[in-house]
Amino acid sequence: LVLILDFGSQYTHLITRRIRSLSIFSLCISGTSPLSSITSLNPKVVILSGGPHSVHSADSPSFADGFVEWAQSNGVFVLGICYGLQLIVQRLGGEVKVGEKQEYGRMEIEVEKSCGIYGGKKVGDRQVVWMSHGDEAARLPNGFEVVARSQQGAVAAVEDNERRFYGLQYHPEVTHSPEGMETLRYFLFDVCGVNAGWKMEDVMEEEIKVINKTVAPDDHVICALSGGVDSTVAATLVHKAIGDRLHCCFVDNGLLRYKERERVMETFERDLHLPVTCVDATDQFLSKLKGVVDPEMKRKIIGKEFISIFDAFAQELEHKIGKKPAFLVQGTLYPDVIESCPPPGTGRTHSHTIKSHHNVGGLPKDMKLKLIEPLKLLFKDEVRQLGRILRVPEPFLKRHPFPGPGLAVRVLGDVTEGNALDILRQVDEIFIQSIKDAGIYDSIWQAFAVFLPVKSVGVQGDQRTHSHVVALRAVTSQDGMTADWYYFEHKFLDDVARKICNSVRGVNRVVQDITSKPPSTIEWE
Ligand code: XMP
Repeated sequence: LVLILDFGSQYTHLITRRIRSLSIFSLCISGTSPLSSITSLNPKVVILSGGPHSVHSADSPSFADGFVEWAQSNGVFVLGICYGLQLIVQRLGGEVKVGEKQEYGRMEIEVEKSCGIYGGKKVGDRQVVWMSHGDEAARLPNGFEVVARSQQGAVAAVEDNERRFYGLQYHPEVTHSPEGMETLRYFLFDVCGVNAGWKMEDVMEEEIKVINKTVAPDDHVICALSGGVDSTVAATLVHKAIGDRLHCCFVDNGLLRYKERERVMETFERDLHLPVTCVDATDQFLSKLKGVVDPEMKRKIIGKEFISIFDAFAQELEHKIGKKPAFLVQGTLYPDVIESCPPPGTGRTHSHTIKSHHNVGGLPKDMKLKLIEPLKLLFKDEVRQLGRILRVPEPFLKRHPFPGPGLAVRVLGDVTEGNALDILRQVDEIFIQSIKDAGIYDSIWQAFAVFLPVKSVGVQGDQRTHSHVVALRAVTSQDGMTADWYYFEHKFLDDVARKICNSVRGVNRVVQDITSKPPSTIEWE
């Protein structure tokens, strides 16, 4: 195991992912975790991440007392990156100062000593790296040597081979450091002697074993399928482990996209052979949403209805199988459970990062179900990888995210008014199909149409019209937390707008949303 101690760098998760891409299992925990949390994981290598802090500020995070001694006496290799290097220097008796020149961005460094972390490189070799620091190592602790310097003369890499402590002032994990991956690979395999053996197939087998150990042979498990990648992969995995003692429920709340229910159910049944009950609750949802225009109110109502349907599903199941289901499957991912060191000034504490959106809008309190979260150590792209092994069809794995409240947050105002939902479905389908036809679906994080509660004047076939306006939104993003609007070619937009106005009755104007997040959000409500 390679353990990453997170000190708040925006790249920390990237380090974890890069190392996993070398088929090495790596985990990330808070940099201030108690020593027992570190030792209980028994890592062979510990990487101290970068972070926005200065080691001089009073509240700068640091590793637990006793860490250095534990690492030394257990033959553990320690690599500090950026702030991590400065922590090592400071805690082992060296000195860190505010640099004379701060170094941000691309920078050239030169190897001064050919050994340890740069075993393959010769003295004088140069490479371009990505720097991002204000402080620098001014005096190294006893036993440490400078291995590379930046073109401005700042320390870029250090090591104490005997004690197995290493440090890089730059970020090898980002693509702007073109040789960074090679350095990490060399360090982990050749210096630390780590074995590559972490494969998604093994992860799957291991998870299946865990599920079978957790769920007794006569226990039953339920799962709410949203049609999204995470819950589908989680359910497919659990189904592989326990077969038809898994019972899934898919709710058609009347707020789904064009033919979504049919398309999703077909994949569940035909491709994945999942035991799924489809509950048609269109009337139940829409009657509760009638006249509601407040976005938060819509979300609350939808969340509550989901709970009551899910509750009824569990009770019905109990009657059918004569036993209460004992477990609930959730598609929680690793980024949701990582406890990280928040950057200063964000007001966040060292608490779990909890997703603010829940697909099923919360769970009934009295269900007393124990959770099975088979994806909780995986990142999104790894879930897709696992999905491929489980034979979840590729187009399904690549679907754009879709919010739990569905089209309710894309029809602004009262969703039951006129034929807003129907119009939106048609417009959305044309937009998405055009995106797919143009071969750009996979370059976009999320694309969708929004129904606006306004009408505008137009002219169609010599007739003056007073019809609806729809907006098109497409964004690129890494995780949905921030987003940029997607640049379509003009010809593409022109074709889509024409197609929409020509084939969707009731629409005479198409506009495009060109705001990033922030200041907007991805959804309009
Ligand atoms: P926003 O609009 O907050 O969206 O920028 C960020 C991401 O979250 C999705 N989203 C939701 N997902 N329930 C969900 O399951 C919700 O209530 C919800 N609201 C937004 C949104 O589609 C985007 O991917």
